[in-house]
Amino acid sequence: MALLVSLGALLACLCAANAMTDPVIVTMPSEVVNNTETTVRLSCNLTNPTSPVAGSHWEKDGKKIENSADTKPNTVIQYTISKADLQSGGVYYCVFLTSPKVNSSIEVKVLPHVKAYKHSEQGNENDKGVLTCTCHSYPLPTDWQWFKVIGDKKTLITNGTERFEVRSTPDKSILSIGELDIEKDAGDYECLATNEVGSGSDKIQLRVRSRLAALWPFLGIVAEVIILVTVIFIYEKRRKPDEITDGTQYRKSNAATNHKDQNVRQRNCN
Ligand SMILES: *[C@@H]1O[C@H](CO)[C@@H](O)[C@H](O)[C@H]1NC(C)=O
Ligand SMILES: *[C@@H]1O[C@H](CO)[C@@H](O)[C@H](O)[C@H]1NC(C)=O
Ligand SMILES: *[C@@H]1O[C@H](CO)[C@@H](O)[C@H](O)[C@H]1NC(C)=O
Ligand SMILES: *[C@@H]1O[C@H](CO)[C@@H](O)[C@H](O)[C@H]1NC(C)=O
Repeated sequence: MALLVSLGALLACLCAANAMTDPVIVTMPSEVVNNTETTVRLSCNLTNPTSPVAGSHWEKDGKKIENSADTKPNTVIQYTISKADLQSGGVYYCVFLTSPKVNSSIEVKVLPHVKAYKHSEQGNENDKGVLTCTCHSYPLPTDWQWFKVIGDKKTLITNGTERFEVRSTPDKSILSIGELDIEKDAGDYECLATNEVGSGSDKIQLRVRSRLAALWPFLGIVAEVIILVTVIFIYEKRRKPDEITDGTQYRKSNAATNHKDQNVRQRNCN
């Protein structure tokens, strides 16, 4: 009995000792929120490695960051995120090449960076209008909203009301407007995405062409044909009475002109 207790104590002690010597990575900073103004330096400090450190690198989006690999046995490593890379945010990993490998992550969170697929959209009257916005920054939006903008007044567009339909995934939102109306639907729209840091938006101008405008090229051709036909018709009408008078003169003509007539007939036979 006493032996079992002391064995248990020994095991507990070993486990505790083992827990104390587990590798630990301290990250600095622990996370980055809404800092898109300056560059940010990330650092990882590894203590109690399980084996000598054979090197290290940094990863983002499951990919090794170019030029971040190091073969030195450093236990403290750093990586500087450029201002450009800060715009999109992401999850950065520092990886130490011990056996087994160990890593830690630092989340870089930014406001949603929203981009309209096209800033100017065009639709035909009575057709369906489609406006699209995307966002690929980290963390992805948890909510999307659409507004109709008139001057400095914004009106929230509710999914399923009137002819509006909103379909959203975390990285994309699509506003569909059924049967476009020139008066009601042309104008400015705003898509707004929200994540835990805050909100970001973009604007789209929608232009609605009248059915008639879409038909203009066709109507132009029709008008041209009508004018042409009219001109030909008028010309023919004007010419005919002359021919008739010519004909009567012809029949009344004397032998001298009859000779000409024969010539004409002969030519006609040839
Ligand atoms: C994030 O930063 C922008 C400008 O850099 C600022 O306008 C905004 O208020 C900040 N948002 C939060 C939630 O700190
Ligand atoms: C790394 O962590 C160890 C242990 O916590 C500490 O003594 C050391 O000063 C740290 N090094 C740096 C560069 O922060
Ligand atoms: C970090 O370590 C965890 C646990 O060992 C592992 O599942 C994960 O794939 C590692 N991530 C990277 C980026 O190395
Ligand atoms: C809008 O309504 C449609 C149809 O009722 C639905 O499929 C869709 O998921 C809704 N979108 C949002 C963003 O709730």
